[in-house]
Amino acid sequence: SDPYSLLILPGDGIGPEVMAEVVKVIGWFGTHRGMSFDISQGLVGGASYDTHGTPLTDDTMALAQSVDAVLLGAVGGPKYDNLDFSVKPERGLLRLRKEMDLYANLRPAQCFDALADFSSLKREVVAGLDILIVRELTSGIYFGEPRGIHADGNNPGNEGGRVGINTQRYTSGEIRRVARSAFELARKRGNKVCSMEKANVMESGILWREEVQWVHDNEYPDVELSHMYADNGAMQLVRRPRQFDVIVTDNLFGDILSDAAAMLTGSLGMLPSASLGAPMANGRPKALYEPVHGSAPDIAGKALANPIACILSFAMALRYSFDQGDAAADLERAVETVLAQGARTADLMGPEGGTPISTAAMGDRILAALSEG
Ligand code: NAD
Ligand code: IPM
Ligand code: MN
Repeated sequence: SDPYSLLILPGDGIGPEVMAEVVKVIGWFGTHRGMSFDISQGLVGGASYDTHGTPLTDDTMALAQSVDAVLLGAVGGPKYDNLDFSVKPERGLLRLRKEMDLYANLRPAQCFDALADFSSLKREVVAGLDILIVRELTSGIYFGEPRGIHADGNNPGNEGGRVGINTQRYTSGEIRRVARSAFELARKRGNKVCSMEKANVMESGILWREEVQWVHDNEYPDVELSHMYADNGAMQLVRRPRQFDVIVTDNLFGDILSDAAAMLTGSLGMLPSASLGAPMANGRPKALYEPVHGSAPDIAGKALANPIACILSFAMALRYSFDQGDAAADLERAVETVLAQGARTADLMGPEGGTPISTAAMGDRILAALSEG
């Protein structure tokens, strides 16, 4: 069969460290499962800025548009904090999301049994947790106009004389398409969607609630739908997270709620994500896969990073881009196995203590578990 084309963008900080383990996993599926991958590598974020003076070149953007799937490590770091906003590493990632039109960002949070004591919450609150946050990724306050920092000319009462502006803007079409993604995914899981916004204070929140309800009533009446204010949602996520199945929410609320959900699973180093757009000519969705975590400058270069979030992101690529659901499940089971055997990177030093293993050792353990089946 045709090879799967992949663009690998390791990025900055721990990005290249965790991606090196994913490359090993890809090699394993090539050797042991006869899958064939056509892999290209590129630069994104600070790594691209250092070489090209921009966090994403047009060539790399074009390549991303042409492949079956993009795998990204992480971008950013203190070295780039004082760069002009337009060339900051994060702009490279945001350009990829926007130009590929990756409107549905799937952020599953699953608590593996072996890690149930590692969460900052009690075992009985998180054990067995399996929720999916669907974050709208191409609109909202991340991209709305007007935006900028301006002189606040005619306002002598404003000490400092400046104003910073961002705009929360959603069209009904943008809300409907991400709502459809959430309902479709819910049908394959617990058949429940909770939509989060702040319709009590924002008109865009009112529109969000009405349009999600419209999609439900007209197209998915069989799925159970509830609505919640996002602040209450944050509280409910730490109070009783298992009440949720699929959560659908906007770009900014989804960013914040998914970091909070990460700690329910024990570590931010565990959370994968898939960013999906509309189907391409070959029927596969435009797709980018990346861990939820960032470049972790505090541990970069020390072989301390947990590669599991990035490896599980590749499992999502197997499932959503390559129709290899069985292979994805095998990879997820291998991760579960090594955790049950006690393999722990430094971020997973829980109540029982122990000796952490390196990023590469964790990758090797997962390969061994794959080979043992
Ligand atoms: P971060 O996610 O990089 O790190 C937060 C904390 O979690 C740190 O203590 C870090 O050591 C730890 N951590 C994260 N991933 C880990 C892993 N795989 N294994 C072990 N520990 C891990 O968030 P931050 O510190 O707020 O941001 C650092 C930089 O990363 C910033 O420039 C930010 O903009 C960027 N960032 C990028 C992405 C992305 O590329 N998708 C996401 C979030 C933040
Ligand atoms: C994430 C990150 C990004 C975001 C940044 C790095 C642009 O926090 O992927 O969660 O805010 O979306
Ligand atoms: Mn984030």
